[in-house]
Order: sequence, then C-alpha cells, then structure tokens
Amino acid sequence: MRRPIIAANWKMNNLSDEVIRFFNEFGDTAISLKDREVVIAPAFPYLKMAADLAKGKNITVAAQDVYPEMEGAFTGMVGAKMLNDLGVGAVIIGHSERRHIFKESLELIRKKVTFVQNNGWKLIFCIGETLPERESGKLYDIIKEQIYTAFDGNLWCDTEKAVIAYEPVWAIGTGVVATPEQAAEMHAFVRKIMKERYNREETVILYGGSVKPDNIKGLMSCADIDGALVGGASLKACSFKKLVLY
Ligand code: 13P
Repeated sequence: MRRPIIAANWKMNNLSDEVIRFFNEFGDTAISLKDREVVIAPAFPYLKMAADLAKGKNITVAAQDVYPEMEGAFTGMVGAKMLNDLGVGAVIIGHSERRHIFKESLELIRKKVTFVQNNGWKLIFCIGETLPERESGKLYDIIKEQIYTAFDGNLWCDTEKAVIAYEPVWAIGTGVVATPEQAAEMHAFVRKIMKERYNREETVILYGGSVKPDNIKGLMSCADIDGALVGGASLKACSFKKLVLY
C-alpha cells in the first residue's frame, strides 16, 4: 500500500517568526491523518525550531540537503551528525535547484543517495527535465539517466523509505503546472522503471511544480501520483492545510 505524502519544501524562505506562525496556524491538522504523511522541509537554521514545534503533531521534518559526511572540515556544509542532532526524519536529494544552480553532478547525487540510506532517513529523491530537454524529445532519456545513475546497485532501503519526486523544472515556481495527463504519463513511466529495474512497484512517487490548493485534486486523482512536493504554496499554513486536506 502506497501511503500518500504531502511535503513542503520551504527552500530559502520562512524566518523564525514565520516558522512559529506557521506551526501555530497549522496546529493539529496532521495529528489524526492516518492515510497520508505530512513532511516539512525548512531551511537549515530553522530545522531545530521546526522539529521542536512538530513534536507530537504527526509531521516529519526533513532537511533540504545533506553533505555526505558525518562531520569534519567541510566549511559551510551540514552533515549527518548535525541532522541527527536536529531531529530530521527525511532528506531531499537531487532537487533541480541543487542540480542546476549548484551544479551537483550525478556522481555527487548518487553519493548522497547512498548516504541518506546509510543513515536511515527517508530519501526524497527529485528528478525532472528542463523545458529544452522536454522539447528536444530527450525527456525520457534524461529521467532514465537520473534514476539509473542514482539507484543502479545503490538502492537497498525499505521501499517506503525511498520516495521519488518528479518535478519538471519548467513547472517549478512558474505557475505552469504540468497537466494531470503530462504528470500521469511520466509517473507511469517512472513506476514502470521502479518495477522492472528495481522490483519496487510500490514506490511512492510525488509530483512537484506549481502545485496549489486549486490543482492538487486533479493531480491526486491520477493513478500513479502519490502526493506532492510543494514550494510556494507550502509557505503559509492556510494554503498548506488545504493541500494536506486535498
Ligand atoms: P513550487 O511549488 O514553488 O513550484 O516549487 C516546487 C518545488 O520545487 C518543490 O520542491
């Protein structure tokens, strides 16, 4: 059984007063939800605050990234010991902003995929194509490459601990959401890979890219879409509540 996940990726947004307001307003929304998981990924400086505020609220607090080392001389980075100290339950890896803005290589992303599994956190592994990649017809090759380079010989955690988020880059923060048909087509393709190549048909596959309270229902009604990874519309509790209770 695939349990849906509604996940908030706050990126470099929400300061301490906004984090506190968010949790005050979001309140007990997730407590009684047994049929879905709520995940919130604040920026690193607010992880501890969010983890404390989320206690007893049935919310998983996630990091937006991790440097694949336990600790040590890695200026500017946050490693495993710190995430464990902060109470993190999940880590987002391979987000398109990390791939494109910070030029993360497929090798580094694979290393992080290994590392997240070694440390027992839930992996939220992002994949997605740019608009030129879609228009060039290389769309499926790009997605295959992102999955194979990360997972081939490198996927051993429990199936529910390795979540995929399909986020077409052209739909992120643009207001252009993939149509349910476009999303459904890609999710079916990813599901087929997970089944045939890794024997993991039950992988939870999220959609991300301009998900809003008014389009989530259409997306969630697609057979292979198991939830959403949300940026902009997750920053305020009133909007995120609507998404969680889609
Ligand atoms: P938006 O919901 O703002 O388009 O961002 C999606 C995203 O990148 C989530 O990781």
